[in-house]
Amino acid sequence: MKIAVIGAGYVGSVTAAAFAASGRRVTVIDSDPRKVERINGGRSPIYEPGLDALLGSVVGRQLLTASDRYDSISEADAVFIAVGTPSLPDGTADLSYVSAAADSIGSAINPDRFTVVVDKSTVPVGTAGLVASRIEERSGLKRGEAFAVASNPEFLREGYALEDVFYPDRIVIGTMDPEARRILKQLYRPLLERHNYSSLADVIPQPAQPKADTIYFETDEGSAEMIKYVSNAFLAVKISYINEVAKLCEAIGADVTDVAAGVGLDSRIGSKFLQVSSGWSGSCFPKDTAELLSASRKYGSELTVVKAAVESNRGMHDYCVEKVRRRLKSLIGKRIGILGLTFKPNTDDARQTQASVIIGSLLELGATVAVHDPQGKAMFQALNPNLQVRYCDTGEETANGTDALLLLTHWEEYALLDWKAMRQRMRTPYMLDTRNFLRTAPWGEWGYEYEGMGIGTVR
Ligand code: UDX
Repeated sequence: MKIAVIGAGYVGSVTAAAFAASGRRVTVIDSDPRKVERINGGRSPIYEPGLDALLGSVVGRQLLTASDRYDSISEADAVFIAVGTPSLPDGTADLSYVSAAADSIGSAINPDRFTVVVDKSTVPVGTAGLVASRIEERSGLKRGEAFAVASNPEFLREGYALEDVFYPDRIVIGTMDPEARRILKQLYRPLLERHNYSSLADVIPQPAQPKADTIYFETDEGSAEMIKYVSNAFLAVKISYINEVAKLCEAIGADVTDVAAGVGLDSRIGSKFLQVSSGWSGSCFPKDTAELLSASRKYGSELTVVKAAVESNRGMHDYCVEKVRRRLKSLIGKRIGILGLTFKPNTDDARQTQASVIIGSLLELGATVAVHDPQGKAMFQALNPNLQVRYCDTGEETANGTDALLLLTHWEEYALLDWKAMRQRMRTPYMLDTRNFLRTAPWGEWGYEYEGMGIGTVR
């Protein structure tokens, strides 16, 4: 089978590499010549653990190539649309890249063979219909005859994308077209059967715990599109809930880590996504909750639970700033060090991060801010050109002369810092660990005042 993937971002690169590793011939199409060149050189266009090695292997075996041209579409059994769907100012998803991809498919599609066009990007309900209409308009073909459009949302977590793509909980296929269903099932068979990727044993990560079989779930287009948004919004609500509980735990004198652990023991709730933080952020949750909320209003059925989670999340960013302000009294002239600019570890993705909001507030309150991140500096700097911060090369440098250190992202390398020695670099040894990541260290012994989230003073 041959496939084409439009878009060499996070989703497109990982999806394309996984299909190629399953023996499919894959062409990745992207208009950015730098990405095309990187992929054809066997290197990843993004930072994602393991992806460099995987792409190196499949490009080396000529299973995957990249191109800025669309001609491979005419030979493809399936064409995946994996382009960005950023938020417009009103919260709705910007579909201009999806529409442009549909037009390109319409111009290049082969009328003499059946092609299934697959929406992999997170798109609002109704987008499969929009994509189909644009292809019909451009090509003069009729959907259901020479082509069909299916929705097949991705559930990859950045930083764990390879594990998620090779060991998914579920594969959701939204189409009622029998030929499209047949092609997609065949395409996914190696992944479903946990194909023996022995030649890639060093590259594909094994899940920490044995994974249950992948569920292959078929439905209609609209329901598949909803599943993606509802899943992400549900996770965001879950995190917001525990984050609010963390604030209450602080007030009451309970420990949110134990509360979350105890609550998560109920298999109906589960322990995942109950990790306290300064709020959820990143390239998916903010945009997906905004789109779902905006769609719910449009259809006169506002999802007030999601609305509350969005408000609560912003409140969580503010709560972190408030904790620092409470400790230091005033922030005017205070020096704050920030550890972590990405929305979570193991990614260079600094889109819509809590760091930008928190740093913005600290600056507004008169603080000066030094920042560090192992991978996210370049993207953060490009996306936040107006934030007047000092970029540091190491965690140690970030601590120099500070009145407070805020750990926003739990990068493993922050656990390896010599915290005892770091104390000497700080002017006021106050540490706010928004992930309760380092809570077991002997902070008091080292002369710090340590605060986590929802744990008050450490027991
Ligand atoms: C998410 C979904 O998990 C994934 O299925 C979907 O396809 C894309 O969106 P991702 O955005 O990569 O993935 O990150 P995720 O690991 O879900 O974390 C999202 C945010 O929630 C991050 O800011 C993270 O730090 C935060 N988070 C996560 C918490 O604050 N607490 C938790 O317990 C889990």
